[in-house]
Amino acid sequence: MAHLEIKGGRALKGTIRISGAKNAALPILSATLLSEGRFKLRQVPELEDVRILIELLRELGVSVQYREQGTVFVDSSKLESFEAPYDLVRRMRASVLVLGPLVARLGKARVSLPGGCAIGARPIDFHLKGLELMGAKLEIREGFVEARANRLEGARIYFDIPSVTGTENLMMAASLAKGNTVIENAAREPEVVALGRLLQDMGAKIKGLGTDTIKIEGTKTLRPATCTIIPDRIEAGTYLMAVGAAGGELIIENCVPEHLEAVILKLKAAGLKIKVIDADKIKVKRRRRLCSVDVKTQPYPGFPTDLQAQIMVLMSTAGKLSVITETIFENRFMHVAELKRLGADIKVEGRSAIVRGVKHLNGAPVMATDLRASASLVLAGLGAKGTTIVQGLHHLDRGYERMDEKLSAVGARIKRVNGTPVQEGKMS
Ligand code: EPZ
Repeated sequence: MAHLEIKGGRALKGTIRISGAKNAALPILSATLLSEGRFKLRQVPELEDVRILIELLRELGVSVQYREQGTVFVDSSKLESFEAPYDLVRRMRASVLVLGPLVARLGKARVSLPGGCAIGARPIDFHLKGLELMGAKLEIREGFVEARANRLEGARIYFDIPSVTGTENLMMAASLAKGNTVIENAAREPEVVALGRLLQDMGAKIKGLGTDTIKIEGTKTLRPATCTIIPDRIEAGTYLMAVGAAGGELIIENCVPEHLEAVILKLKAAGLKIKVIDADKIKVKRRRRLCSVDVKTQPYPGFPTDLQAQIMVLMSTAGKLSVITETIFENRFMHVAELKRLGADIKVEGRSAIVRGVKHLNGAPVMATDLRASASLVLAGLGAKGTTIVQGLHHLDRGYERMDEKLSAVGARIKRVNGTPVQEGKMS
């Protein structure tokens, strides 16, 4: 099994360039289903999740051409199918983002229910309830959602929880509906705003992007557009924390500092020296051992759940005691057991993890359980004494473009090895 071999203890030095955001690329690729004609998308990250969505679009009859690094041309003029098969949705749950566009464009869709996921049940009831409020007739049959609507109609939708892909799915559906839609308690993430801006460039009439109330005035047709995918704030946050784990100094370029405000404040409170040195550059340096801070994940603009595992690594060798509370997903502490194999002192109590700082972590073979957990294990390996073997790289490759190459270019002793590493004892 392919794995990463990381020799810890080497401080980082240099510049890392951030790639396009996975969680912006996925809804934006899905939005190309809303209109005929050729879209030009730039800075599309080469990630497994993006590859799977492109495979799904091609199965629907969409033409997708990769050009030079990161530029993709997409044309859904000839849609031949309205079905998203289980095999693809099972592998990449955000495939559910084709549901809204297909019902809006074709009046029908048959999309496999995504099923469970490592970090939680992750239902899509908000997506389905919203479509029903817009007049779609839904049936759940053989694990598929079958949706039909002559033409969706605008509706007033309230989310109990500000769902990111729920907001995205319904914003896309509402763009082609008859009449006005209001989404209350909408998600405010930059990736939602990026999708909304593309829809506006396609001719959609949308107000309130970035607030918790989004208003969409439906139009009959939309047009293709050109778009550059925004930089990935979670990737950028992960590399800020790589300095927290390994020490040294990095320049993070091609990022959007204001998308990381809560993260930068928290890392500064922990003792990292962070300076915004340009509109798209951040300088980060660790001078001394970090101090413990408490963290509570929140919807944007709060501290992101997708950086919870990574900051836990920093707290595992910080000064005293840190309480990390995960409020978004019910099972997002699977990295704890693996961090404890590296010597971390962490106790999970319900939705909180109590992290007592230890002097240092010790390298060992560990197994990634989900995307962001795999990133946290890499960070742990960078700071640990000795060698860490991170297995389960398919998780990492879903959401980080060439992470091993980017880290080794700034001095990390990290290499990707195929084959099975010698394992001490039986891996869990
Ligand atoms: C998006 O997932 C991201 N994925 C996740 O990133 C991210 O962790 C999450 O938002 C929260 O920020 C993409 O954008 C592709 P939610 P999403 O709907 O939309 C509950 C990563 O690592 N909920 O905002 O699926 C849900 O169970 C991934 O890149 C319902 O109950 O998350 C969760 O507790 C992981 N019913 C909460 O809301 C619904 O219909 C927030 O979920 C929808 C959601």
